[in-house]
Amino acid sequence: MASLRNSSAWQALAAHQRTIAGMRMRDLFAADVSRFDKFSLTLDGLLLDYSKNRISGETMRLLCDLARQAGLEKWRDRMFSGQTINTTEGRAVLHVALRNRSGRAIEVDGEDVMPKVEAALRRMLAFAEAVRDGSRAGATGKPITDVINIGIGGSHLGPAMVCRALKPFQRADLRLHFVANVDANQISEALNGLDPASTLFIVASKTFTTEETMTNAATAKSWLIEALGGQAVGRHFVALSSNAEATAAFGIEPANLFEFRDWVGGRFSLWSAIGLAIAIAIGAERFEELLSGAHAMDEHFRAAPLAENLPVILGLLGIWYVNFLAAESHAVIPYDQRLELLPAYLQQVEMESNGKGVTRDGEAVDCATAPIVFGEAGTIGQHSFFQLLHQGTRLVPADFIAAAESHHSLADHHAILLANFFAQTEALMKGRGEAETRAELKAAGLTGEALEGLLPHKLFAGNRPTNSILLRRLDPRALGMLIALYEHKVFVQGVIWEIDSFDQWGVELGKQLAKTVLRELQDDRPVDGHDSSTNGLINEYKRLQLFG
Ligand code: F6P
Repeated sequence: MASLRNSSAWQALAAHQRTIAGMRMRDLFAADVSRFDKFSLTLDGLLLDYSKNRISGETMRLLCDLARQAGLEKWRDRMFSGQTINTTEGRAVLHVALRNRSGRAIEVDGEDVMPKVEAALRRMLAFAEAVRDGSRAGATGKPITDVINIGIGGSHLGPAMVCRALKPFQRADLRLHFVANVDANQISEALNGLDPASTLFIVASKTFTTEETMTNAATAKSWLIEALGGQAVGRHFVALSSNAEATAAFGIEPANLFEFRDWVGGRFSLWSAIGLAIAIAIGAERFEELLSGAHAMDEHFRAAPLAENLPVILGLLGIWYVNFLAAESHAVIPYDQRLELLPAYLQQVEMESNGKGVTRDGEAVDCATAPIVFGEAGTIGQHSFFQLLHQGTRLVPADFIAAAESHHSLADHHAILLANFFAQTEALMKGRGEAETRAELKAAGLTGEALEGLLPHKLFAGNRPTNSILLRRLDPRALGMLIALYEHKVFVQGVIWEIDSFDQWGVELGKQLAKTVLRELQDDRPVDGHDSSTNGLINEYKRLQLFG
C-alpha cells in the first residue's frame, strides 16, 4: 500500500488539495458559466451533474492519473474477462456476465459461461411467468397470490430494493413480501393473514447455511405443513442457491432449485436467480429491461475514457473526499419514495465491499477506505439529518437522485419534490453569507442585539459537495443503469485502495459468533467464561427469562 500513497499521482493530488483548499464552489460557478457543461455527463437518459463538487479541471485530471497509476483499466479488463480478481476466495467476479447482452463469450478457466447463464435465466424467467399466469399454482390448484422471499444481506436487499422501486410495474393481485431478520416479529407479520394454499416461499441463500434464513425457512415450512401437509412443500417452496446438497436436505426438489455460480457475489446477485422475486413481481420482459440497463452501464464502464466514465467519476470523487478532504461519511438521498431502500442497499454494496483494512497482498492499508454510507428518501431526510449537512462541523458529500417523470398524475407533488432536490443542492453549495443573512434578518424586523445574537446561527458556510443524478423515469432499464453505476463506482474505489472488494470476512465472522452464546442461552446455568460485560448481560437475560 505504501506504493500508492507514495505514488506521484497521490502526491500531486495532496499538493493540489493544498492549493485549492481556499476555493469556494460559489466563486467557481460565478467565474465559469459553463461549469455545469464541463462537469456533467449523460448516458441513455441518465444525467450525472458533478459540478457542485470542490473540484477544478485539474482535480479531475489528477484523479484520473491516480486511477491510471492504480491500474484501473487493467483491473477492469480482468473483471470483464473472468479472471480471478477475488483473490482471497479464489474466484472470478462476474455479475456482469449475468446481464451480458453483447453476444461476447466470457470465459472462466477456459469455459464460456454465457450458454449456462442464458439457460439459467430462461428457466428462471419461465418459472416467474408460470407463477404470474397461474399455471404454476399451489398444491390445491389455487394460483399464487403472495410470494415471500426469505433471505438476508445480498439475498434480500437487492430484490427488496428493486421490488419497492418498481412497484408501478407490479400487479395488485400478486404481492411480494420480504423476510430477512431472525426476529420472529418479521416472519409472523409476513405470514399473518396469508392463505398457505396461495403462498409461495422463495428461500434465497447462496450458501444455504445462513442462520437467519435457515431459521425463517424452517418456520415457514412448519406453517405450511401444518395447513397443507408435508406433500405440499414441493409446490410451495423454491430455493435460490449455489449449494444443491443443502437445498435437497431441506426438502427442495431439483425442479424447484435455481442455481447460480460462486462467482456471483451476494451483494451483486440480484441479476442472478436471486432476482426471482423481482421477475415474479415485474415479469420476464421487464426483468430483461433491468438487465439491459445494467449492461448499458457495463458497456459504458468498459469502453468510455476515464474522464468521461460515469462510474469512474463517481468513484474518484469519493476518493477525493475520503482521502484528500478527510470526509468520513457519504449520504445517499433519493428524492423518490420508491427508492427508499436504496441507501440500505448501497450500505451493503459499499461498506461490505470496501470496508477493509488490508490490501489484496495482506498488508495494512495506510489510508482511509470506504466511508460510512447512510441516507433517507428526500424530503424526509431534510427534516432529520440535513441540519448537520448544512451547518454541522463535518464534511458529508451527498448523492441526490431523482426521476424527472413521475408514475403518478399528481404533478404538483412531483414539482414540490424536485424543487426541494434542486434547492437543497444549491443551498448546500452556495451557503448564505453574512451580508445576505443580515439583510434577511433586518427585513424580518430585527435590529441591534437581537439581530447580532441570532446572526451566527443563521449563517450557512456552504461549499458542501453534492452529485446530482437525474433519471428520465424510474423504470427497470433506468434502475438497472443506476445500480450498475454504483457497483462499478465501488469497484473503482477498491482498485485504488488495492483491496479485494469481493470478499466479506468481517461479516462472515457474524455467522459463527452467536453459535456458542446460543448454546449457553439454551442452558439454565449462569455463565462465567466471557468478559464481565458479556457474562453480566447473558446472566441478566437468563434471570429475566426465568422470573420475568
Ligand atoms: O452477511 C454476510 C453475507 O455473506 C453477505 O455477503 C451475503 O449477502 C449474506 O451473508 C447472505 O448470505 P447467503 O446468501 O449465503 O445466505
